[in-house]
Amino acid sequence: MNNRDTQRTWKYHDGTKHSYSSIRNNPHLLDWANQPLPFKIYPKIEPFPLPRDVPQTGVAALSAISVSVHSSRPDAIPTLHDLGRILYFSAGITRQRAYPGGEIYFRAAACTGALYEIELYLVTGDLQDLEGGVYHFNPADVSLRLLRKGDFRGNLRQATVMEPAVAGAQATIICTGTYWRNAWKYQARTYRHFGWDNGTLLANMLAISASSGLPAKIVLGFVDAEVNRLLDLNTRREVSLCLVPIGRTSESALLAPKDVPALGLETIPLSEREVEYPAILEMHDASSLESEEEVAEWRGKQTVFPSPALAGEAVRLHPLPEGQQPTDTIEQVILRRGSTRRFDRAASISLAQLSTILDTATRGLLADFLNPYGTQLNDLYLIAHSVQGLRPGAYFFQRDRNTLELLDAGEFRAKAYYLGLEQELPAEACVDVFFLTDLHRILDRYGNRGYRAVQLEAGTIGGRIYLAAYSQCLGATGLTFFDDDVIQFFSPHAKGKSAIFLLAIGKPLKHKPQ
Ligand SMILES: Cc1cc2nc3c(=O)[nH]c(=O)nc-3n(C[C@H](O)[C@H](O)[C@H](O)COP(=O)(O)O)c2cc1C
Repeated sequence: MNNRDTQRTWKYHDGTKHSYSSIRNNPHLLDWANQPLPFKIYPKIEPFPLPRDVPQTGVAALSAISVSVHSSRPDAIPTLHDLGRILYFSAGITRQRAYPGGEIYFRAAACTGALYEIELYLVTGDLQDLEGGVYHFNPADVSLRLLRKGDFRGNLRQATVMEPAVAGAQATIICTGTYWRNAWKYQARTYRHFGWDNGTLLANMLAISASSGLPAKIVLGFVDAEVNRLLDLNTRREVSLCLVPIGRTSESALLAPKDVPALGLETIPLSEREVEYPAILEMHDASSLESEEEVAEWRGKQTVFPSPALAGEAVRLHPLPEGQQPTDTIEQVILRRGSTRRFDRAASISLAQLSTILDTATRGLLADFLNPYGTQLNDLYLIAHSVQGLRPGAYFFQRDRNTLELLDAGEFRAKAYYLGLEQELPAEACVDVFFLTDLHRILDRYGNRGYRAVQLEAGTIGGRIYLAAYSQCLGATGLTFFDDDVIQFFSPHAKGKSAIFLLAIGKPLKHKPQ
């Protein structure tokens, strides 16, 4: 089984680290003339337009992020309006901006380089206003395209070995990653980006589903080849990353999997030519689950990792009480989100604001690789620059104790500039949140698939941090980092861990300084 040969993940992870010298020794010039198309277009399939006048849910963003379902709708079967809302607020176009080479269509969730390599598909049984089928969602015209007609939920039940949420859902969204669209800029690191960019999108998807009264869950345990075949993917270019069952039905009909012949559907080429990065294909292959037995065994791996003992000075977190939390709806917050391009260095945030962000972003994440009562796969380490009530310094977030443990007091803006790939953003922010993991422990437990899980979890919590920050009218941005220097900075506490993700939070600079 590929999944157990974890040296393959180490090869990929170590081979794609950023360092001071790697950045200088391997400059990568962007080939603008060969820039990939940001949409997957099936020119020969008629669009099925999704409704655009979808009523908003009106649920406050902070609540939508952290509570898994917002009503006890007995049916919990999504309507076309629900699906339109979920797809649009996960991956729809929310803003556009002209640049010398054309137009950038910004989407609902943050994405490295605004390259939008994550595609969404829908597998549904018959709904009131949508016939059962396998569909592709195109954000460019907010429409679905029918790839296979009929009810193929039995295929997903088989591929996930009757994962309960998938088996009980009337509709499941499948997220895929398109290598070239991101690798054009980020080369072999794209496989890490798949987890990050899929994760930020999932944060929106889970929040909008919850606010629509529909349960949703991230499912990572499936036979890769079966799902890829169902979507008719050319797996040298595009692969399935995760499934998100939406809603719940009491229907108990046994759905047999159907034959899924190759479709060979025409799509518009992304670029004149594509460059293949073998390290990416190799990492995906290494983390693929090959049989139903392997999936069933993998799913039993959810675990509770023990929390480390508290050693340093501890600061208790106090999230804003419910009555004092901002009430802007999840839709309003998603529409106004956009990565902050300059933070106000003179500004500060309150400890209550930071507490609220950490609390809502890390609470109640539903995924088949997480034990609902257990620890998450990523540990959060912070550099606080200007948080009222918190000494500037380096901290470790003890989630189950709801405290920040001081690791090292001091002013670390210059250090943050360096760790965040020599960018101003992490130095100007009020606080930087680093995601670190004990990759040895994760791979030992989950095999190479654990690498996908840890990246995806980081992206999802990161996406929730974006939303929790913007719901309080703060700003945030995802960032890249020098892997080993991050670990060294947080050591000895972080010794042996690996750097996974970085996000800066602060107040956007309103006016450029004179
Ligand atoms: C995981 C992640 C890493 C990112 N890294 C950087 C970065 O290193 N520097 C930067 O300026 N922006 C970074 N960004 C911000 C993206 O450029 C931004 O999300 C993208 O342009 C889309 O714009 P929007 O977030 O405003 O919608 C990152 C975003 C994500 C999600």
